[in-house]
Amino acid sequence: MVSWRTMIAPFLLPVALLATANGGPWGRTGAFGEPTCESSGCHRNEPLGPGRGTVTIDVGPYVPGEKQRVRVTIADAAASAWGYQLSARLARNTQQPAGTFSIAQSGGADDLFSWIHCASGSLPPCGSSEIQYVTHTSVGSRLNTRSGFTTFFIDWTAPSDNVGDIIFAAAGLAADGDQGTNGDRTYTTTVLSLYAPSNQPTLRDGGVVNAASFAQGAPVSPGTLVSLFGDKLGPPNFSRIVARSDLDPVTGKLPLELNRIGVDFFAPGQDPVPAYMLFVSDRQLNVQVPALAVTLPARVEVQPVFNRGQGRNEVRGNRVTVNVQGVSPALFTFPDGKSAAAVDQGGVPIGRVGLFPNSRPARSGDVILVYGTGFGASTPPVEPGVLATGVALLNATVSVRLGTQFLASSNVLYAGAAPSFAGLQQFNIRIPTGLGSGDLPLVISAGPFDSQPGVTLRVEGP
Ligand code: HEM
Repeated sequence: MVSWRTMIAPFLLPVALLATANGGPWGRTGAFGEPTCESSGCHRNEPLGPGRGTVTIDVGPYVPGEKQRVRVTIADAAASAWGYQLSARLARNTQQPAGTFSIAQSGGADDLFSWIHCASGSLPPCGSSEIQYVTHTSVGSRLNTRSGFTTFFIDWTAPSDNVGDIIFAAAGLAADGDQGTNGDRTYTTTVLSLYAPSNQPTLRDGGVVNAASFAQGAPVSPGTLVSLFGDKLGPPNFSRIVARSDLDPVTGKLPLELNRIGVDFFAPGQDPVPAYMLFVSDRQLNVQVPALAVTLPARVEVQPVFNRGQGRNEVRGNRVTVNVQGVSPALFTFPDGKSAAAVDQGGVPIGRVGLFPNSRPARSGDVILVYGTGFGASTPPVEPGVLATGVALLNATVSVRLGTQFLASSNVLYAGAAPSFAGLQQFNIRIPTGLGSGDLPLVISAGPFDSQPGVTLRVEGP
């Protein structure tokens, strides 16, 4: 009679053969509820005892659809054979794979040190929701290599979209090279790969400008709303404006990152100071300049950054220089680039008839609200990042020139922070008689500093 053992032995052998120095069995990363090489009851560190080695995963932030090289390093001074198992999962659902592994094509022998299996044990391509496991090959276990550490590398292509955080998990085996399972130390680790819109956020030289005037080369000032122009500053064809839900839940301030995108200001000899984020897109960012602990005027460097402070996941772009001074006033205009962004007290836009469906010229006696940024500090102070909550008058002496006339201060009813906004200033001016009609030049000055030339206000009547 043939015992069941002899019946199944031939089948058992290959599995045991699989559970070898050749990387199997799969599902042994030690994370996501999986056992390790050791907790599976296979490899044991006796008689050596537990080690003080490590396994590390070097993976950067991921840009959708882009490939990067992932390195797994096992370090242990006593080891002379090496193995590992690696997988990548969605943090939001760790039963789901994230991205696709492929054998590195560096052309060197190292390419042969790793191979990939699907959870089912088959070779790639794996099913779309099948976990991929990367392990060492038997040649990759580099028997009798007492190097103190060994690195394996594999290529990984990120998912084609922002899928949130991705967890890489690995078990590393620092083995004693006896081709057995004793004297082998198992280490485990997990690391996060965070989404990044690109690998190279790039600001254009001279690309940091006052958000109202876009004046090239003009200085900006703390608290001012500025626009930064460049490339790969956000996901392709994407834009997003800050929402109430983005405000800091404790301070109520504007966020320092939007979609993981931030901007740092580097004053000479100072640590970077993050700006407050208002708008992000792939070619333009709008931010509020933070307070800078430096004597002004000063030349300050500005740098876009993704995943600020997230170690390996942080992506820093180039730095461009901008002049910063105490006050740098400018007026917002309507899309024609010259009509002052002004409304009457009912919110009706002021401008030539037809500029907007309901626009109208200003007439004497009207009180018009005009908006700008960069006019400096106020009393009470409204710190950068804070949405003004009420009246806050500008500290600088404000004068308003409309056409050829300086308006009497009695016609400048308010010059200060625009309530419910950060970095926006509001001017309530009463239109006097005798100005004449037409697109009259409008200049608002803070002390000696004038808003940009070329801005007009349409006025009609005596
Ligand atoms: C991620 C987990 C694992 C890694 C990285 C790994 C790695 C290795 C390495 C590098 C060797 C050669 C050891 C030496 O020469 O000293 C080896 C041998 C071996 N492993 Fe594993 N192993 C893992 C999990 C397992 C599991 C779970 C089993 C059992 C099911 C197993 C069974 C064996 C056996 C029987 C050998 C010795 C014989 C041979 O080389 O075929 N291993 N493994």
